Amino acid sequence: MSRIAYVNGRFTRRAEAFVHIEDRGYQLADGVYEVWALFDGKLADPEGHFARLERSLSELRIPMPMSREALTMVLREAVRRNGVREGLLYLQVTRGVAPRMHAFPQNPVPPAVVITVNRVDRAADEARAAQGVAVTTTPENRWGRCDIKTVGLLSNVLAKQAAREAGAVEAWYVDELGLVTEGASSNAWIVDADGVLRTRDTQANILRGVTRLSLLEVAQEAGFEVQQRPFSVAEAKAAREAFITGAGSLVLPVVKIDGDPVADGRVGPVASRLRRLYIERARATAI
Ligand code: PDD
Repeated sequence: MSRIAYVNGRFTRRAEAFVHIEDRGYQLADGVYEVWALFDGKLADPEGHFARLERSLSELRIPMPMSREALTMVLREAVRRNGVREGLLYLQVTRGVAPRMHAFPQNPVPPAVVITVNRVDRAADEARAAQGVAVTTTPENRWGRCDIKTVGLLSNVLAKQAAREAGAVEAWYVDELGLVTEGASSNAWIVDADGVLRTRDTQANILRGVTRLSLLEVAQEAGFEVQQRPFSVAEAKAAREAFITGAGSLVLPVVKIDGDPVADGRVGPVASRLRRLYIERARATAI
């Protein structure tokens, strides 16, 4: 754990960093967040994360707490103060502090901002990626606005815990048609039987993953055929490869689904290559 947090305009020691008990994020999950991968102390996929933050806030009618330029400076300062090179930065913006009621505060309050930075052991992550991971599946039971990156993650928390208890690292949500929507904290992909890369389209009720978006470009530049269209759990098990993307997982091969192997149960060449290409590009374009 890194030592310094940013809370509402101040950098403080993490152990002494607190938010108000009537922060609407705490009481009502009335807020949004972003997670940036940090490569060499720099923010990965900056444009994608800033654009999604602005969109999530605007959908909830919460103002940006400061300009993008000012926020970039604060995020970088948080990274610098923690001395983290390889890690993850968490930013949370809630509607602010007000006596509890469901509707927005009648007199507007400033949004509340929290930033924390954590180190990531890239060598351990690479070892895990080389082995591949297991996922479980769970019925889709989230609200209809999963495109907004809100802190309301109770369904995801329960799905992830069930996955962990089954020896898996991620849970894939499956809709009423038997089609995978996305993971509890990642987007889901396969390399189908024809060698085509497939991931769910953003008309569906999913988060528009920033890593997903970057990887769509990386994969197309590398000459892969990519289709944004759904796949079933059966198709995923029968696929050549499966993997997940996210700021935490980057590109992470999936070798088991609900205890069944994907193809021969080994990490395949496409996911490994895409992981390498994504990381190369993210490192080169981080700010
Ligand atoms: N989760 N889908 C969900 C539900 C997510 O929570 C995330 C990210 C993603 C991938 O999005 P991105 O590529 O922009 O990280 C997809 C973050 C990492 C988290 O909750 O910690």
